[in-house]
Amino acid sequence: MLERDSTYVVMGLLDRHSIAYAIGRTLQRLGGRVVYTMQSEVLKRRLWDSDKALAADEKSALDCRFCDVAKDEEVKAVFESVGPLAGVVHSIGYANPKTCLGPEFHTDAIDDIQKSYHVSCVSLATAARYAVPRMKDGGSIVTLSFDTHHVYPLYNWMGVHKAALEALVRALARRHGRDLVRVNAVSSGPVLTTAASKIPDFERIGRIWYDTSPIPWDPAADKFAVADAVAFLLSPLARKITGQVLAVDGGAAIMGGTLTEIEQAVRAPI
Ligand SMILES: NC(=O)c1ccc[n+]([C@@H]2O[C@H](COP(=O)([O-])OP(=O)(O)OC[C@H]3O[C@@H](n4cnc5c(N)ncnc54)[C@H](O)[C@@H]3O)[C@@H](O)[C@H]2O)c1
Repeated sequence: MLERDSTYVVMGLLDRHSIAYAIGRTLQRLGGRVVYTMQSEVLKRRLWDSDKALAADEKSALDCRFCDVAKDEEVKAVFESVGPLAGVVHSIGYANPKTCLGPEFHTDAIDDIQKSYHVSCVSLATAARYAVPRMKDGGSIVTLSFDTHHVYPLYNWMGVHKAALEALVRALARRHGRDLVRVNAVSSGPVLTTAASKIPDFERIGRIWYDTSPIPWDPAADKFAVADAVAFLLSPLARKITGQVLAVDGGAAIMGGTLTEIEQAVRAPI
């Protein structure tokens, strides 16, 4: 499905639970070469190098660069350090759980809102700006979103920033059509990752999926379904698709209300 030996930068690896890691492994399985980015070397030492569940050869084979996406010059340096690219995955988000997420929407912490907006949304434009010159034959950029059609409890400012991210996907798709670079988002259902664990009462969102998703959704395993869709959008199979948000969520986001008894598939209770 991917062009053999083409290189993809996958931004946002934190640990083996990251959606970025599922995407990287999927791209490698399909014949792509993967360069990851992590936020810092300190995090890599703490969460990757010391993870006993990862095989030693996998740890040493990791091609990883470092950048804080809120620092323009660091993102620029990463893309200057790589050769020709076929695609970029932006799998990055941040919100201070004490101020931007949680039971109360209103907050005085405007600096936190701005930081969350910069990291979770604006950084896609920063990445595109420095990645596109590496895509001489065109390419594909994919980011990760979360259902922006509905308002979820506790997700607060992240929900607002995801809506802005989807608008940015369309703006970048328009801007980079002339470069033959496509820009899309995958809107994922809830997945158990370190970022998700920072969302207060994340299980509540999992329960919403359990009650509403027509196709049963597994927050532990289904990040690989998300990764497959990202790979599709990166591949030539999606060559005329740009500016779109593809929901990979078991269908939950289309639902008005919960599943009736007749509609429910047989599934394990949570
Ligand atoms: N987990 C879910 O349920 C879910 C659902 C839909 C969308 N998403 C989105 O998927 C993406 C990846 O999240 P994840 O769930 O894999 O969690 P994760 O914690 O594994 O990944 C988040 C990444 O963002 C990085 N990051 C945060 N601030 C940064 C900065 N200043 N500079 C560089 N990197 C920074 C973190 O280091 C981490 O690698 C995020 O955009 C998230 O919003 C997640």
